[in-house]
Amino acid sequence: MENKIQTLISQNAIEQRIGDLAAEISAHYGNEEILVLTVLNGAMIFTADLIRRITTPLHLDSIAVASYENNASTGKLTFRSQLKLPVANRKILLIDDILDTGNTAQRLIAYLYEQGAGEVKFCVLLDKQLEQSRQISAADFTGFKIPNHYVVGYGLDADEKYRNLPFIGII
Ligand code: IMP
Ligand code: MG
Repeated sequence: MENKIQTLISQNAIEQRIGDLAAEISAHYGNEEILVLTVLNGAMIFTADLIRRITTPLHLDSIAVASYENNASTGKLTFRSQLKLPVANRKILLIDDILDTGNTAQRLIAYLYEQGAGEVKFCVLLDKQLEQSRQISAADFTGFKIPNHYVVGYGLDADEKYRNLPFIGII
């Protein structure tokens, strides 16, 4: 039996917000070339839709990391793949699906600067509104602020399931 999933953000709302976000990002960078780094697997669908609407010239690379096991943050980051393109002195736009504890983003940003990145900006589809403050203040570009629920769809999973839902929902 499928768990019942309640829509939090509709397919239509996602599409509209991504258009605005892409315009904001394109206006910010102009014609300056950027390196987009997408965090797999969660951000792949968001990234695919977003970059097709960004007009700034870009290179694309990906990195696979994991910090969650059985729906709970483990705190440590495991790299499941390496970067293919050099990041030294590059302007990087890091794209992830959701900002929860901020642990993943904070560690990835620190890692990129260690590798010599010139600048790292962080773009996230969903920013969970937590009670306690997190280490990373906020993303540079945010799609939606959402209440503190476990969400799935549009790339986000629960044990690798529901990534293909065209909307974002609460289990
Ligand atoms: P953080 O390190 O706690 O900020 O968590 C970030 C990562 O955990 C994200 O990249 C997601 O892959 C995963 N994550 C956090 N919250 C959720 C959720 O509500 N649904 C699905 N994945 C989540
Ligand atoms: Mg993730």
